[in-house]
Amino acid sequence: MNRQAVILAAGKGTRMKSKLHKVLHPVCGKPMIQHVIDNIKASGVTEIVTVVGYGAEEVKRALQSETAFSMQTEQLGTAHAVRMAEDVLKDKTGTTIVICGDTPLISEETLKQFIHHHETTGAKATILTAKTNHPFGYGRIVRNEHGSVERIVEEKDANIEEKLINEISSGTFCFDNTLLFELLHEVDNDNAQGEYYLPDVIKLLVARGELVEAYVTEDFDETLGINDRYNLAIAEKIMKLRINREHLLNGVTIVDPENTYIGADVQIGADTIIEPGVMLKGKTIIGENVFIGANSIITDSEIKQGASIKQSVITESFVDEETTVGPFAQLRPGSDLGKQVKIGNFVEVKKARLHDEAKVSHLSYIGDAEIGERTNIGCGSITVNYDGKNKFKTVVGKDAFIGCNSNLVAPVEIGDYSFIAAGSTITDSVPESSLALGRARQTTKEGYYKK
Ligand code: UD1
Ligand code: CA
Repeated sequence: MNRQAVILAAGKGTRMKSKLHKVLHPVCGKPMIQHVIDNIKASGVTEIVTVVGYGAEEVKRALQSETAFSMQTEQLGTAHAVRMAEDVLKDKTGTTIVICGDTPLISEETLKQFIHHHETTGAKATILTAKTNHPFGYGRIVRNEHGSVERIVEEKDANIEEKLINEISSGTFCFDNTLLFELLHEVDNDNAQGEYYLPDVIKLLVARGELVEAYVTEDFDETLGINDRYNLAIAEKIMKLRINREHLLNGVTIVDPENTYIGADVQIGADTIIEPGVMLKGKTIIGENVFIGANSIITDSEIKQGASIKQSVITESFVDEETTVGPFAQLRPGSDLGKQVKIGNFVEVKKARLHDEAKVSHLSYIGDAEIGERTNIGCGSITVNYDGKNKFKTVVGKDAFIGCNSNLVAPVEIGDYSFIAAGSTITDSVPESSLALGRARQTTKEGYYKK
């Protein structure tokens, strides 16, 4: 059967009190609407139309070619919003899923089961519902004495009895596409908010004698709609624990899952250990058997098997097998560390390739540089890469020894097997197997105190 989806994202999201569009607020590092799109795609939907209106340009820029777009210039309600997709979808057959851009917690599994239920019962509409003791704000499912769905009543239209109903609409529906676009024209705006409500399609189908189903999910948390930042914080927490649980079950040790922040798109290998306060963000990939010490922040980076990261910040960088970083090191974008490299405390690396077994153990800055295999950079040494206008490169060969507190003034090259005496300022390149001294000779004046 054909499956298409309409995602609603045209509303202003007033309750967020934000300049950023509501559906672009991240949940575990990914815009909430992107969670919706990813899950919809994974559940076998081939065509997605996102209805945009308020902040349309911002949403389109963020989503680009992820979906098609329809414009709703005036926000007259959710039924009106779905009608905006009519031009694109009206001639389709099969199932149309309508879902709100502000319900990122509805899982791929739940969506699959929900769509399966709709398609196997042959219903013309199915509502994804859940039960809760705190239904405030949601549309309530009104059932007749036989337990069949009759209609949905919105919070603002509900009478005292209806407000007590504990089954809510998640705002997610499956519809028979043809009937949906036919009945949307019959929805009126005669209600407390003066809006065209999508949920009203349900009572129109029931009036026509069509089969309407409700699929009740076990887990109310999934249906959480994010209307304000309190909801956002709760969604973040639920999603965080869901992500962490998945990694735990895949063999990753997370010492304190409540206080570990792993982005939705991060991958982690088995037997990796993650201490409290760690944040893994963006498209980070962590290998097997890696140690990530407390409070490390790793963004869009790859850390290979057996590496050890202690209390460090790593951004857009690569760390190869069995390399150690930190404590208190920073790898800025473009750091590319080989195998068994050692980066010690208070070392900053930027846009630099360090070959296997290179060591920078203490208090250094290595930027715009290439450091050869097994080369040792002594404590306090720095690459002087910037003249106030331009950046220059430093190249150090293999098995070299850079004495403590040296300045390598780029552009400069130090050959393989060379030594730089401690405290040198090196402005000229040094050929291989040489010793370079670049410092003033010491003079000592004896008896100076008495004078
Ligand atoms: C809506 C449902 C409610 C359901 C709840 C689930 C309606 C009338 N109410 O209420 O039954 O329990 O979601 O979270 O459908 N939107 C548009 N254009 C509009 C109005 C809204 O695109 O003209 C979009 C919003 O951007 C949002 C979604 O539709 O993504 C839902 O709108 P919102 O105002 O959040 O509705 P709720 O009050 O949460
Ligand atoms: Ca909502």
